[in-house]
Amino acid sequence: MMKWWKPLKGRVKIKEKLNRHTTLEIGGPAGFFIYPEDAADLKLLLNLLKRGKMPFLLIGAGSKILASDKGFRGVVISLDSPYFKEIRCRGNYLEAGAAVELAKLLSVTEKLSLSGAEFLAGIPATIGGALVMNAGISRRTKDAKIKRLDISQLVTEVTVMDYNGNIKRLKRKEINFGYRSSSLSECIVLSARLKLRKKDKRQIAQYLKEYLDYRKSTQDPSWLSAGCVFKNPKGYSAGRLIDLCGLKGKKIGGASVSMRHANFIVNRGGAKSGDILRLMALISEKVRLKFNIELEPEIKIWQN
Ligand code: EPU
Repeated sequence: MMKWWKPLKGRVKIKEKLNRHTTLEIGGPAGFFIYPEDAADLKLLLNLLKRGKMPFLLIGAGSKILASDKGFRGVVISLDSPYFKEIRCRGNYLEAGAAVELAKLLSVTEKLSLSGAEFLAGIPATIGGALVMNAGISRRTKDAKIKRLDISQLVTEVTVMDYNGNIKRLKRKEINFGYRSSSLSECIVLSARLKLRKKDKRQIAQYLKEYLDYRKSTQDPSWLSAGCVFKNPKGYSAGRLIDLCGLKGKKIGGASVSMRHANFIVNRGGAKSGDILRLMALISEKVRLKFNIELEPEIKIWQN
């Protein structure tokens, strides 16, 4: 085979197992796993992929991905290189590279006494992944309504590369953000500009603690998972619906419904991608039969 990837500057791994890159620790080999070194290298890679008509996917922190045990026949692109991890601050604005982990972002904002992003605490994502999926949380307000907080609310501009390698700077209003979705999934996020506000450091630390404590009391991070598996149907909590079906602890192979939060499927060790898929199908069916509600997956299923 011609070594088509030779012109690239970044690292290239051949037949890299995806279980090393997903929080579920599931996934067979990707044909190629490539870390472009910078934007020019990414552009070159996109051109090579286009020429070779090769399918590709982007990976961030790997926390919302169910990769098939058969792997992915194509290229997985990771921006996990120093160029895409830069953070710059000007006043109340922060420009963060796509591969910056949210935990890192929050440690920087806390140091700079910048507030507004605390609700992202504990979400295992990169800026790029969090934006594409519009990561966030939901909270019940005093009048029992569900209020959503998501990263789109902090964004003022996003720099993206389209699949032809052209770089564009998009204003917030040029981007469509939905619930766990955005129009950014049609391009590659390079960096984003977030608007925060100055606040007392102790107050920020307090907010961070509250969000993390809530997460710890409702979710169980000691098991491998991909977070919430299904989106919340309008007006409902998917976790609550699945719980009401009596499915906590339900097992298929190495996968089971979390005892703590019913919208989490955990890998109890050795779970196959098929175990997770079958458990998802069973959950969907039970919820459909009991509530006549169709659950929509939040996690991305990678197979080809
Ligand atoms: N509930 C149950 N049983 C369960 C789970 C939840 O009765 O097994 C009840 C809770 O007691 C609560 C309600 O359902 O009254 C909502 O639960 P929770 O506060 O945990 O929020 P959620 O709507 O299930 C959302 C996000 C989570 C995020 C939390 C934090 C979605 C699908 N999920 O969960 O995000 O961590 O809010 O507030 O939007 C993720 O996206 O991966 C994720 C975990």
